[in-house]
Amino acid sequence: MSDTKFRGNEQVSIIVPTYNESQNILSILKSIEENLPKNKPVETIVVDDNSPDGTGNIVEEYINSVKKATGYTVGVIRRKAKEGLSSAILKGIEGSKGQTIIVMDSDRSHPPNIIPKMVDTLANSEYDIVVASRYVKGGSVSGWSVKRKLISKIATKIAQRGLGVGQKDPLSGFFAFKRNILDGLKLDAIGYKMLLEILVKTKGVRVKEIPYTFTNRMQGESKLGTSTVFDYLRSVWRLYRYGTLQRKQEKRASIRFLSKAARFYTVGAFGLAVNYLISLLFATGIASFWYLHANIIGIIASMTTNFVLNKIWTFEDRDFTPRRTLIQYGKFIGFSSVGALVQLGFVFYLVENYSLMYPQALILAVIAAAFGNYILNKKWTFKENVWE
Ligand code: GDD
Ligand code: MN
Repeated sequence: MSDTKFRGNEQVSIIVPTYNESQNILSILKSIEENLPKNKPVETIVVDDNSPDGTGNIVEEYINSVKKATGYTVGVIRRKAKEGLSSAILKGIEGSKGQTIIVMDSDRSHPPNIIPKMVDTLANSEYDIVVASRYVKGGSVSGWSVKRKLISKIATKIAQRGLGVGQKDPLSGFFAFKRNILDGLKLDAIGYKMLLEILVKTKGVRVKEIPYTFTNRMQGESKLGTSTVFDYLRSVWRLYRYGTLQRKQEKRASIRFLSKAARFYTVGAFGLAVNYLISLLFATGIASFWYLHANIIGIIASMTTNFVLNKIWTFEDRDFTPRRTLIQYGKFIGFSSVGALVQLGFVFYLVENYSLMYPQALILAVIAAAFGNYILNKKWTFKENVWE
């Protein structure tokens, strides 16, 4: 977009999937253009699945012959066959350039006049997803049969209970979000439930629901059939499995943390023994060094065995390239010495300022030093994330 009135990173992309919407598409495109968010470049991308009723051709003609507002473009992606709503949406997202994405139906069930509000909410608040919602206060459905309403309610409950999503309308087909929330995600894009999959797979995103009235289509017919219901159950199942897998991995991370800590302190205890024996050996055994010299040898020996054992066993680092190993060794000795100094200082501080008894102060100080030692070496010597 070369227009200088607009800043490139504010680009908005509206994704409109179509299948046999020849009677609706022009009117929805017109209505979108009448309700463009202000001061932002906008593109509408129609994703058509080779509709037998010629929807794709109608859009192409529209693109080539109708003059659009400044900063506004319309494009069409034409796929060879009907591959499903969610996959059409995904295709549209991939082919779009907006930092803000809006997804909506083409059959005029979704009123474009709330698009500016959706875009504003994303731009001026901490929200990452804005759901146009039928089931929050102020929202409603008009023109649906009792049966269809019931199916929708049941499907919504399944998502809420089964997958733990907190939104009132997680199955809405009308929503907006910041493109970057999809970074690193792999979407299955089965069936109709694009929003649900995004809600389940994105973590820590903030979601806002704003009410609207869904108006059943006047022209053409719904493509939602029995197979959609099965697709839905299948995708809920997959998302459920996805959730349990994630939780398992998280649990493993905490276990990894603890089991490494356990190994680290086992090594530490072993180091004490090495320290003691070597110091003794050099003072009274194979040589009769001055006891302080013997003790220094003992300390160096135990730090070295601690380092090697922690490298191989605790942190499972088998890379012994000389440079890398030496740097790690240096850091390890450094942190251990700092740990010793911190321990001394801490004992002194506790005893002097809090008139704590020496034994109690010593326990606190040893714990603090040991914990600090583990964390520092984990993070800086062996370059791991602290909490896994
Ligand atoms: N490209 C493409 N390919 N578009 C499709 C396909 C497909 O396979 N299937 C449906 N669409 C388009 C339709 O042309 C329409 O614009 C939109 O997707 C929604 O299809 P409808 O068939 O009109 O769906 P609905 O009105 O029954 O369902 C609505 O409500 C659901 C919630 O109850 C939609 O908004 C759904 O997205 C929503 O989940
Ligand atoms: Mn519809």
